[in-house]
Amino acid sequence: MESDGEPSLSPRKRVGHFLIKLFGSALLLAFSYRLLFSDSNVFFVFSGSSASEMPAAKGGNLRRDSPSMEKTDAPYARLPEMALHLSKEDSLKEQCDLFSGEWIPNSSGPPYTNSSCSFIDSYQDCLTNGRPDTRYLYWKWKPYGCGVSPFDAEKFLKAMRNKSWALIGDSIFRNQMESLLCLLSQVEEAVEIYHDETYQSKTWYFSSHNLTLALIWSPFLLKAEIKDLGHSNYDIQLHLDALDNTWTSQYNKYDYIVLSGGQWFLKTSIFWENSTIIGCHYCPGKNLRELGMDYSYQKALELAFRFITTSDHKPLVVFRTWTVDHFEYGEWYDGGICNRTEPYKEGEFSRDPADQVMRGLEIAEFEKAAAIGLEHGTHLKLLDIYHLSLLRPDGHPGPYRKLYPDISKRPQNDCLHWCLPGPMDTWNDLLMEIVLNEGHQRYSS
Ligand SMILES: *[C@@H]1O[C@H](CO)[C@@H](O)[C@H](O)[C@H]1NC(C)=O
Ligand SMILES: *[C@@H]1O[C@H](CO)[C@@H](O)[C@H](O)[C@H]1NC(C)=O
Ligand SMILES: *[C@@H]1O[C@H](CO)[C@@H](O)[C@H](O)[C@H]1NC(C)=O
Ligand SMILES: *[C@@H]1O[C@H](CO)[C@@H](O)[C@H](O)[C@H]1NC(C)=O
Ligand SMILES: *[C@@H]1O[C@H](CO)[C@@H](O)[C@H](O)[C@H]1NC(C)=O
Ligand SMILES: *[C@@H]1O[C@H](CO)[C@@H](O)[C@H](O)[C@H]1NC(C)=O
Repeated sequence: MESDGEPSLSPRKRVGHFLIKLFGSALLLAFSYRLLFSDSNVFFVFSGSSASEMPAAKGGNLRRDSPSMEKTDAPYARLPEMALHLSKEDSLKEQCDLFSGEWIPNSSGPPYTNSSCSFIDSYQDCLTNGRPDTRYLYWKWKPYGCGVSPFDAEKFLKAMRNKSWALIGDSIFRNQMESLLCLLSQVEEAVEIYHDETYQSKTWYFSSHNLTLALIWSPFLLKAEIKDLGHSNYDIQLHLDALDNTWTSQYNKYDYIVLSGGQWFLKTSIFWENSTIIGCHYCPGKNLRELGMDYSYQKALELAFRFITTSDHKPLVVFRTWTVDHFEYGEWYDGGICNRTEPYKEGEFSRDPADQVMRGLEIAEFEKAAAIGLEHGTHLKLLDIYHLSLLRPDGHPGPYRKLYPDISKRPQNDCLHWCLPGPMDTWNDLLMEIVLNEGHQRYSS
């Protein structure tokens, strides 16, 4: 049923590049919609533009019309990409930057397979879908100067007795949650106890450990109207001065919060402030001021962090950084693929300026919030998967988001989500490292 999205994409090939950008944004949600509400509950969040050959596409727009770029550029330029931006206290304690290192071959392979875990969404089940190469499963992340322990489900579950978690964001978190459920299922199988009408938000429960894991779908973190998704003429209405109460209303229930923004910010959206339209991102022909995707993302992060640092409830809050996609030879909608079978080496890839801007914003806002948090007793941690994920173009489903795709027909590729098992399991290794080394008892409710 996802192939329904493909025929509607073909007209774009006839229009010029500029129009491709226009239509790309518009069509992409129509495409997402079909996947979103399909019974398999897969949520694509493709950007309308992404391939590294076309940096001007994504970056051009925000450079041209984005006053806030001046602010975000400067701090970012000073930050080495691989540095871990923790507080001084943390750096002293940790003595090792978990996020700076390299992928090294390791023959021990993944801790679960498609046969031993039942939580893998069919769109990320690359093994079952027939992906022929398997070398992408045999790499381990090795930080310089220290190691990452393999995920210890028993230790994690024991430490998390009577606890509750919420992962707040878009479909990338669904992907990460499924990885976590698989890693934990080697000890205890979770039971789904809740889903919303559209299966976007779900909750699982581990009865033997009284542990609750919730996935809360809030792709902008902000209040947003994305209802008209199915219509060809939709625009996302994004309120830059209000958070999405889907997550804020239940924030107090959780001991651990993991959150992030993502590629939804690249989509066409109309910006509101004080009940007034103040501009937009990608809305040509509407006579609105282009403010840029970094404008809305900065507002979202600022508001979310302000809510978190001023809340009386003090969970441990982990901010997960921006994830890149790896489309090559085109964009997601016009035949872009990701057929690499090995990680990149340093310096082997080109960076997308837009990704760097968004990631730079995150670091700047996180550091501001972490400093404020210290004064308010709110503990914030960074799960900085940006660089280590950038190095893994080989970890995406590509055409194997479907069962034995006919490669000769150029099927729609997914170069944004990640195969399970796959590199994303490392995100959870690192999450465990951060959380269990943190002394979780201090955050008991
Ligand atoms: C797992 O994938 C293999 C191919 O790698 C396939 O033969 C097997 O049937 C799959 N298992 C399940 C339970 O789907
Ligand atoms: C390979 O990975 C396993 C599991 O993560 C780890 O215990 C082992 O030390 C690794 N081997 C090498 C040579 O790094
Ligand atoms: C589960 O954990 C919650 C939150 O700590 C607690 O209130 C509840 O009593 C626990 N239930 C059981 C059965 O241990
Ligand atoms: C979990 O909650 C139960 C019920 O409230 C309590 O008896 C038990 O001591 C708690 N365990 C931990 C590790 O907090
Ligand atoms: C929105 O309203 C508040 C208070 O009424 C005001 O301080 C603020 O400047 C307004 N913002 C904009 C963008 O108009
Ligand atoms: C990936 O696809 C490109 C374009 O079709 C091709 O030139 C290249 O050889 C392929 N690489 C691999 C590793 O299959």
